Amino acid sequence: MKIIIINGPNLNLLGKREPEIYGTQTFEDYFKTLEAQYATAATLSYFQSNSEGALVDKLHEVGFSYDGIILNAGAYTHTSIALADAIAGISTPVIEVHISNVYAREAFRHHSYLSPNCAACIIGMGLKGYQAGINYFLP
Ligand code: DQA
Repeated sequence: MKIIIINGPNLNLLGKREPEIYGTQTFEDYFKTLEAQYATAATLSYFQSNSEGALVDKLHEVGFSYDGIILNAGAYTHTSIALADAIAGISTPVIEVHISNVYAREAFRHHSYLSPNCAACIIGMGLKGYQAGINYFLP
């Protein structure tokens, strides 16, 4: 089972960025705990980019061979038709994750271009949302 977590813009700053919203753990540290937890069940990989085009390229690269994609597209969630089209164009199912409860925040975060093309959305569970996304793909 090959599963990739893809994080979008500013999520490289997890641990430092607005810790009252996003917590104090770095994603690299959290990813190590995921790898240990799912070592026998799945091969996990992780990709982060601040660039919309690089995220589109990564979806194309993995989207016909991986079993699952967990995508937190950050602010591109609310702006990117290109990412929505990339998700629609690949065959691997995508789970949309948001660490914070975007519906409890500014109105511009309430709309996602991606959700209609995703298999499921996990919102407001903190970093545990990524775990929930992995569990979705496991038998
Ligand atoms: C986010 C929510 C987005 O609105 C925001 O732009 C982010 C992070 C989240 O994980 O809660 O960068 O996707």
